[in-house]
Amino acid sequence: MAKSSKKSKVKKPLKKTEFYTERIKSGIPGLDNLISGGFLRGQNIIITGPAGAGKTIFSCQFIWEGLKNGEKCMYITFEEIPEEIKKDALSFGWDLEKYEKSGKLILTHKDPFQTTDITTRLQNEIIQSDITRVVIDSISLLGLYFKDTHEIRRELYKLICALKSTNVTAVMTAETREGIDFAPRFGVEEYVADASIILFFSGIGESGFRSIQVRKMRNTKHSTNTHPFEITKNGIIIHKSEI
Ligand SMILES: Nc1ncnc2c1ncn2[C@@H]1O[C@H](COP(=O)(O)OP(=O)(O)OP(=O)(O)O)[C@@H](O)[C@H]1O
Ligand SMILES: [Mg+2]
Repeated sequence: MAKSSKKSKVKKPLKKTEFYTERIKSGIPGLDNLISGGFLRGQNIIITGPAGAGKTIFSCQFIWEGLKNGEKCMYITFEEIPEEIKKDALSFGWDLEKYEKSGKLILTHKDPFQTTDITTRLQNEIIQSDITRVVIDSISLLGLYFKDTHEIRRELYKLICALKSTNVTAVMTAETREGIDFAPRFGVEEYVADASIILFFSGIGESGFRSIQVRKMRNTKHSTNTHPFEITKNGIIIHKSEI
Protein backbone atom coordinates (compact mmCIF):
# COMPACT_ATOMS: atom_id res chain seq x y z
CA MET A 1 0.00 0.00 0.00
CA ALA A 2 2.66 2.43 1.08
CA LYS A 3 4.57 1.64 -2.08
CA SER A 4 1.76 2.61 -4.43
CA SER A 5 1.21 5.95 -2.67
CA LYS A 6 4.93 6.66 -2.97
CA LYS A 7 4.84 5.82 -6.64
CA SER A 8 2.65 8.80 -7.38
CA LYS A 9 5.40 11.07 -6.00
CA VAL A 10 7.92 9.93 -8.57
CA LYS A 11 9.12 12.90 -10.60
CA LYS A 12 9.17 12.79 -14.34
CA PRO A 13 12.70 12.74 -15.70
CA LEU A 14 13.87 16.17 -16.83
CA LYS A 15 13.23 16.91 -20.49
CA LYS A 16 16.37 17.37 -22.56
CA THR A 17 15.77 21.12 -22.68
CA GLU A 18 15.48 21.29 -18.88
CA PHE A 19 18.80 19.58 -18.29
CA TYR A 20 21.70 21.82 -17.51
CA THR A 21 19.75 25.03 -17.38
CA GLU A 22 18.86 25.67 -13.76
CA ARG A 23 21.72 26.69 -11.48
CA ILE A 24 21.55 25.75 -7.82
CA LYS A 25 23.67 27.27 -5.06
CA SER A 26 26.60 25.16 -3.95
CA GLY A 27 26.44 26.59 -0.43
CA ILE A 28 30.18 27.38 -0.51
CA PRO A 29 30.81 31.14 -0.32
CA GLY A 30 33.01 32.23 -3.21
CA LEU A 31 32.43 29.14 -5.36
CA ASP A 32 29.29 30.02 -7.31
CA ASN A 33 30.84 33.04 -8.99
CA LEU A 34 33.65 30.81 -10.28
CA ILE A 35 31.16 28.45 -11.95
CA SER A 36 28.66 30.75 -13.69
CA GLY A 37 26.32 30.96 -10.70
CA GLY A 38 26.24 27.47 -9.19
CA PHE A 39 25.99 23.78 -9.96
CA LEU A 40 23.65 22.69 -12.72
CA ARG A 41 20.66 20.80 -11.40
CA GLY A 42 21.02 17.11 -12.13
CA GLN A 43 24.79 17.33 -12.42
CA ASN A 44 27.24 15.08 -10.57
CA ILE A 45 30.37 16.62 -9.12
CA ILE A 46 33.46 14.80 -7.87
CA ILE A 47 35.43 16.49 -5.09
CA THR A 48 38.93 15.08 -4.92
CA GLY A 49 41.55 15.75 -2.30
CA PRO A 50 43.94 14.24 0.22
CA ALA A 51 43.02 13.31 3.79
CA GLY A 52 41.93 16.37 5.75
CA ALA A 53 41.49 18.51 2.64
CA GLY A 54 37.91 19.43 3.54
CA LYS A 55 35.90 17.03 1.34
CA THR A 56 33.47 16.06 4.07
CA ILE A 57 33.04 19.67 5.21
CA PHE A 58 32.37 20.71 1.58
CA SER A 59 29.79 17.91 1.29
CA CYS A 60 28.01 18.86 4.52
CA GLN A 61 27.93 22.50 3.42
CA PHE A 62 26.34 21.51 0.09
CA ILE A 63 23.70 19.46 1.93
CA TRP A 64 23.12 22.24 4.46
CA GLU A 65 22.39 24.69 1.63
CA GLY A 66 19.75 22.31 0.29
CA LEU A 67 18.16 21.77 3.69
CA LYS A 68 17.98 25.53 4.33
CA ASN A 69 16.09 25.86 1.05
CA GLY A 70 13.57 23.17 1.89
CA GLU A 71 15.10 20.45 -0.32
CA LYS A 72 15.12 16.81 0.69
CA CYS A 73 18.68 15.57 0.96
CA MET A 74 20.58 12.34 1.39
CA TYR A 75 24.08 11.78 2.75
CA ILE A 76 25.62 8.35 2.23
CA THR A 77 28.80 7.82 4.17
CA PHE A 78 31.10 4.88 3.55
CA GLU A 79 33.66 6.15 6.03
CA GLU A 80 32.63 8.04 9.14
CA ILE A 81 29.58 6.94 11.07
CA PRO A 82 26.57 9.31 10.90
CA GLU A 83 27.13 10.43 14.50
CA GLU A 84 30.60 11.70 13.58
CA ILE A 85 29.32 13.51 10.52
CA LYS A 86 26.58 15.16 12.60
CA LYS A 87 29.04 16.16 15.30
CA ASP A 88 31.45 17.65 12.75
CA ALA A 89 28.62 19.50 11.01
CA LEU A 90 27.26 20.86 14.29
CA SER A 91 30.66 22.39 15.06
CA PHE A 92 30.00 24.67 12.06
CA GLY A 93 26.46 25.39 13.24
CA TRP A 94 24.75 22.93 10.87
CA ASP A 95 22.22 20.98 12.90
CA LEU A 96 21.72 17.98 10.61
CA GLU A 97 19.91 15.97 13.27
CA LYS A 98 17.03 18.45 13.32
CA TYR A 99 16.43 17.80 9.62
CA GLU A 100 16.94 14.09 10.03
CA LYS A 101 14.23 14.01 12.67
CA SER A 102 11.85 15.98 10.49
CA GLY A 103 12.43 13.54 7.60
CA LYS A 104 14.14 16.10 5.36
CA LEU A 105 17.52 14.39 5.59
CA ILE A 106 18.46 10.76 5.19
CA LEU A 107 21.93 10.21 6.64
CA THR A 108 23.15 6.64 6.39
CA HIS A 109 26.34 4.70 6.74
CA LYS A 110 26.87 1.89 4.28
CA ASP A 111 29.54 -0.76 4.45
CA PRO A 112 31.27 -0.77 1.06
CA PHE A 113 32.22 -4.43 1.46
CA GLN A 114 28.68 -5.55 2.11
CA THR A 115 27.03 -3.43 -0.51
CA THR A 116 26.50 -5.58 -3.57
CA ASP A 117 24.10 -3.52 -5.61
CA ILE A 118 24.18 -0.07 -4.15
CA THR A 119 23.26 1.57 -7.43
CA THR A 120 19.73 0.19 -7.80
CA ARG A 121 18.91 0.61 -4.13
CA LEU A 122 20.21 4.16 -4.07
CA GLN A 123 18.26 5.04 -7.21
CA ASN A 124 15.04 3.69 -5.68
CA GLU A 125 15.59 5.48 -2.37
CA ILE A 126 16.25 8.79 -4.12
CA ILE A 127 13.13 8.50 -6.24
CA GLN A 128 10.86 7.28 -3.45
CA SER A 129 11.98 9.94 -0.98
CA ASP A 130 12.00 12.76 -3.54
CA ILE A 131 15.66 13.60 -2.86
CA THR A 132 17.13 16.55 -4.80
CA ARG A 133 20.67 16.64 -3.33
CA VAL A 134 22.80 13.65 -2.52
CA VAL A 135 26.32 13.18 -1.19
CA ILE A 136 28.36 10.00 -1.49
CA ASP A 137 31.37 10.20 0.81
CA SER A 138 33.52 8.62 -0.53
CA ILE A 139 33.34 6.75 -3.83
CA SER A 140 36.96 5.69 -3.35
CA LEU A 141 35.88 3.22 -0.71
CA LEU A 142 33.20 1.93 -3.00
CA GLY A 143 35.89 1.40 -5.62
CA LEU A 144 37.86 -0.89 -3.31
CA TYR A 145 35.10 -3.41 -3.78
CA PHE A 146 35.87 -3.89 -7.45
CA LYS A 147 38.66 -5.88 -9.05
CA ASP A 148 40.20 -3.60 -11.64
CA THR A 149 40.04 -0.18 -13.24
CA HIS A 150 37.66 -1.38 -15.98
CA GLU A 151 35.21 -2.66 -13.44
CA ILE A 152 35.47 0.49 -11.33
CA ARG A 153 34.92 2.67 -14.37
CA ARG A 154 31.92 0.58 -15.44
CA GLU A 155 30.38 0.62 -11.95
CA LEU A 156 30.98 4.32 -11.47
CA TYR A 157 29.44 4.98 -14.85
CA LYS A 158 26.45 2.85 -13.87
CA LEU A 159 26.14 4.74 -10.59
CA ILE A 160 26.36 8.12 -12.31
CA CYS A 161 23.77 7.13 -14.95
CA ALA A 162 21.45 5.94 -12.19
CA LEU A 163 21.88 9.22 -10.29
CA LYS A 164 21.27 11.21 -13.46
CA SER A 165 18.04 9.37 -14.17
CA THR A 166 16.69 10.65 -10.86
CA ASN A 167 17.53 14.34 -11.59
CA VAL A 168 19.36 14.54 -8.28
CA THR A 169 22.38 16.84 -7.95
CA ALA A 170 25.16 14.66 -6.57
CA VAL A 171 28.42 15.51 -4.82
CA MET A 172 30.79 12.56 -4.59
CA THR A 173 34.08 12.70 -2.76
CA ALA A 174 37.21 10.86 -3.87
CA GLU A 175 40.56 10.41 -2.24
CA THR A 176 43.72 11.54 -3.96
CA ARG A 177 46.13 8.89 -5.10
CA GLU A 178 49.20 8.83 -2.93
CA GLY A 179 52.06 10.84 -4.35
CA ILE A 180 49.89 12.57 -6.95
CA ASP A 181 48.16 15.49 -5.35
CA PHE A 182 45.35 15.90 -7.85
CA ALA A 183 44.62 12.46 -9.29
CA PRO A 184 41.73 10.53 -7.79
CA ARG A 185 42.68 7.13 -6.41
CA PHE A 186 41.56 5.02 -9.36
CA GLY A 187 42.34 7.54 -12.07
CA VAL A 188 38.91 7.21 -13.68
CA GLU A 189 36.57 9.11 -11.37
CA GLU A 190 36.92 12.55 -12.91
CA TYR A 191 36.42 11.25 -16.45
CA VAL A 192 33.03 9.76 -15.77
CA ALA A 193 31.69 12.71 -13.76
CA ASP A 194 30.15 15.92 -15.14
CA ALA A 195 32.34 18.06 -12.94
CA SER A 196 35.61 17.70 -11.09
CA ILE A 197 36.81 19.95 -8.30
CA ILE A 198 40.16 19.46 -6.58
CA LEU A 199 40.95 20.48 -3.03
CA PHE A 200 44.67 20.91 -2.45
CA PHE A 201 46.17 20.85 1.01
CA SER A 202 49.81 21.38 1.67
CA GLY A 203 49.57 20.89 5.40
CA ILE A 204 52.53 21.97 7.42
CA GLY A 205 51.35 22.25 11.00
CA GLU A 206 48.76 24.95 11.55
CA SER A 207 50.06 27.01 8.67
CA GLY A 208 48.80 24.49 6.10
CA PHE A 209 47.71 26.10 2.85
CA ARG A 210 44.43 25.13 1.24
CA SER A 211 43.33 25.84 -2.31
CA ILE A 212 40.65 24.76 -4.74
CA GLN A 213 40.50 24.36 -8.51
CA VAL A 214 37.59 23.60 -10.79
CA ARG A 215 39.18 21.20 -13.27
CA LYS A 216 36.11 20.44 -15.29
CA MET A 217 32.46 21.41 -15.34
CA ARG A 218 30.42 20.40 -18.34
CA ASN A 219 28.24 23.10 -19.93
CA THR A 220 29.77 25.74 -17.70
CA LYS A 221 32.14 28.63 -18.21
CA HIS A 222 34.31 28.37 -15.13
CA SER A 223 37.50 29.64 -13.59
CA THR A 224 40.47 27.34 -14.07
CA ASN A 225 42.65 29.21 -11.59
CA THR A 226 43.63 27.85 -8.23
CA HIS A 227 41.89 29.79 -5.46
CA PRO A 228 42.92 29.83 -1.80
CA PHE A 229 40.27 28.75 0.69
CA GLU A 230 39.88 28.70 4.42
CA ILE A 231 37.96 26.51 6.80
CA THR A 232 36.36 28.99 9.19
CA LYS A 233 33.90 28.48 12.04
CA ASN A 234 31.16 28.83 9.41
CA GLY A 235 32.70 26.31 7.02
CA ILE A 236 34.64 26.67 3.76
CA ILE A 237 35.12 30.15 2.30
CA ILE A 238 36.87 30.58 -1.06
CA HIS A 239 38.98 33.66 -1.64
CA LYS A 240 39.85 35.39 -4.88
CA SER A 241 42.73 33.94 -6.84
CA GLU A 242 46.00 35.82 -6.42
CA ILE A 243 46.92 35.10 -10.04
N1 LIG B 1 36.19 24.12 13.02
C1 LIG B 1 37.24 24.04 12.19
N2 LIG B 1 37.96 25.13 11.88
C2 LIG B 1 39.00 25.06 11.03
N3 LIG B 1 39.42 23.93 10.45
C3 LIG B 1 38.73 22.81 10.71
C4 LIG B 1 37.61 22.80 11.59
N4 LIG B 1 37.14 21.55 11.64
C5 LIG B 1 37.93 20.81 10.85
N5 LIG B 1 38.88 21.56 10.30
C6 LIG B 1 39.91 21.09 9.36
O1 LIG B 1 39.29 20.25 8.41
C7 LIG B 1 39.94 18.98 8.38
C8 LIG B 1 38.93 17.90 8.18
O2 LIG B 1 38.17 18.18 7.03
P1 LIG B 1 37.35 17.01 6.34
O3 LIG B 1 36.88 16.04 7.35
O4 LIG B 1 36.32 17.65 5.50
O5 LIG B 1 38.48 16.37 5.44
P2 LIG B 1 38.34 15.20 4.37
O6 LIG B 1 38.92 15.72 3.11
O7 LIG B 1 36.95 14.70 4.37
O8 LIG B 1 39.33 14.11 4.96
P3 LIG B 1 39.27 12.51 4.86
O9 LIG B 1 39.77 12.15 3.49
O10 LIG B 1 40.19 12.05 5.92
O11 LIG B 1 37.85 12.08 5.08
C9 LIG B 1 40.62 18.84 9.70
O12 LIG B 1 41.74 18.00 9.60
C10 LIG B 1 40.99 20.28 10.04
O13 LIG B 1 42.23 20.61 9.40
MG1 LIG C 1 36.04 12.88 4.81
